[in-house]
Amino acid sequence: MSNSIPEEIIEKITSKVDIVEIISKYIPLKRAGRNFKALCPFHHEKTASFIVSPQKQIYHCFGCGNGGNAFNFIMKYERIEFPEAVRVLADRTGVSIPRFQFNRNYSELEELYKINALACDFYHNNLLKVAEAKRAKNFLREREVSEEIISKFNLGFAQTLSDSLISYLCTKLIKKQLIEKLGLALMGSDGRYYDRFRNKLIFPIFDHRNRIAGFGARALDETMPKYINSPESPIYIKGNLLYGLNFASEYIRRLNQVIIVEGYMDVLTLFQFGIRNVVSTSGTSLTSEQVRLIKRLTNNAVIIFDPDKAGISASLRGLEVLLEFEMDIAIVNLPTGFDPDDFVRKFGAEKFIYSISQAKDIFDFKLDFLLTQYNAMNLKEKLKIISEMLLTISKVKNAILKTNLIRRLSEAISEDEETLLIELKKIRNIPLHEPENILKKNVLMNTRQAERIILGVVLEDKEALSEVKNSLCADDFREPNIRRVILTLFNMEIKDTARISNILCQFEDEPTRDLISEVLLEVDKLSDKRKNLFDCIRWIKQDNLKKTLKEIQQKIKLAQEIKNESLMFELVSKYNNLVKRQRQELL
Ligand code: GTP
Ligand code: MN
Repeated sequence: MSNSIPEEIIEKITSKVDIVEIISKYIPLKRAGRNFKALCPFHHEKTASFIVSPQKQIYHCFGCGNGGNAFNFIMKYERIEFPEAVRVLADRTGVSIPRFQFNRNYSELEELYKINALACDFYHNNLLKVAEAKRAKNFLREREVSEEIISKFNLGFAQTLSDSLISYLCTKLIKKQLIEKLGLALMGSDGRYYDRFRNKLIFPIFDHRNRIAGFGARALDETMPKYINSPESPIYIKGNLLYGLNFASEYIRRLNQVIIVEGYMDVLTLFQFGIRNVVSTSGTSLTSEQVRLIKRLTNNAVIIFDPDKAGISASLRGLEVLLEFEMDIAIVNLPTGFDPDDFVRKFGAEKFIYSISQAKDIFDFKLDFLLTQYNAMNLKEKLKIISEMLLTISKVKNAILKTNLIRRLSEAISEDEETLLIELKKIRNIPLHEPENILKKNVLMNTRQAERIILGVVLEDKEALSEVKNSLCADDFREPNIRRVILTLFNMEIKDTARISNILCQFEDEPTRDLISEVLLEVDKLSDKRKNLFDCIRWIKQDNLKKTLKEIQQKIKLAQEIKNESLMFELVSKYNNLVKRQRQELL
């Protein structure tokens, strides 16, 4: 969170800088109402979706999602780090920075990346040189991973010894607290530090700019858990990166398609077999930040679906975030028991590419699946199919595609289109980028939208921030990125004179800044921010309460099953109290 350049200097620059002037040195800006517009310099586009706001001193592109303040623009455009961007803007605004400030200590972030790079080299060298690494080498040989892939992906080996990495890093004069901050060291109950990764195969996790953000570590035997990963740190935010993207991006762009798999090993093996437009989600569901990273490169996503995984419906729902970004989603079903790694090894790259060409689009895939689960001749079950399908269709923004999907659904289940459309209209799905609709139509919003509005409003209104602090806690926010920013804001001392663009500087990871600039511009469209804020707070409270009630209900059911009367009584009274509170709050 800290950088070595004194806060006062950054503030001084911020107070003098005009983002419009700065950006217009690089690209032509056109006035559009209160703001300025341009073709985005960071992705290819034909209509301008790049907005610069002189009031807020931020920019944001609604096409590729990138945004931030003047510093961030310079960083991105000139491909430089924060301290250098400060120097550029200091020059332009005539603020002088004492020279030693730069030489003495550079930012902690850079230090963290440096430590990860050292650790990566250390692990990689171990794999090549240490006798004990034989286990890891055998594993890689059994999995037929080539030398070339081992070196390209910088695979490594962590020794069994309890502090080999720490000792190595100490010889490089690295502070233990920083090693701990990265999660590479853990403090034992005896107050000593230990290596987190011991006797593991190491996968360095690169971010899309080729820096090492963290590590994945695989057990070399049947030990559980199979993988442990670096915990989140200032430079590793799990949902903000995709494994393999740094290597895959040029291929994704060239082939205009991304293949999304689950595992590290899948990425490695596909790469080895010449299929290089591949990224992995590391076994978690896709976040909107990850989709943004892909969306800059292509609109076509192929998902390799794991048929063994429990809850196909739920995992399909996890993919709908791609629909919100208007991506084309195709789903490949590999034969049961095969992940991409096994498949390509057994049947070869050509067969794999063939199965990708046979991918079904997500609607057909989901419909076919539902038709195997439910009997469309039975009215009740047919309604289930319809409501599941309409939920997915409601995520589609393009009207023509929507109509087309309704037609396909109508044919598949012989129900007329008009009726389906009536049902579709009942699903209130607010498009993400049009918050003003919430006001105009005064319809209910969704939780995610409510969280975004709250964030946008509190970012520029200190009173609103304390209002939110009084009524909600950070854990009430479900979207992890929003929760993180809110938590930081809650814990921050904000001076009266502070500008939002200054606060933006505090967030060093790009997706978070993108989120901030986006919500800041979104709430600009609201006419009554305060009213919206209160509505959203109430919505979130209600929504969380509903969630809690549901959970209690489930527990009651369980208690009933195991015939635990006293537990049941306790739960029911808890339930009733909450319902009472809910009623009161509604008044
Ligand atoms: P192999 O089993 O060696 O083929 O590895 P894999 O990469 O194919 O793993 P798998 O398909 O079982 O899981 C997919 C991804 O989920 C992995 O690459 C990991 O990122 C993640 N994962 C799997 N198991 C665990 C676990 O026990 N803990 C954590 N944190 N992540 C896991
Ligand atoms: Mn696997």
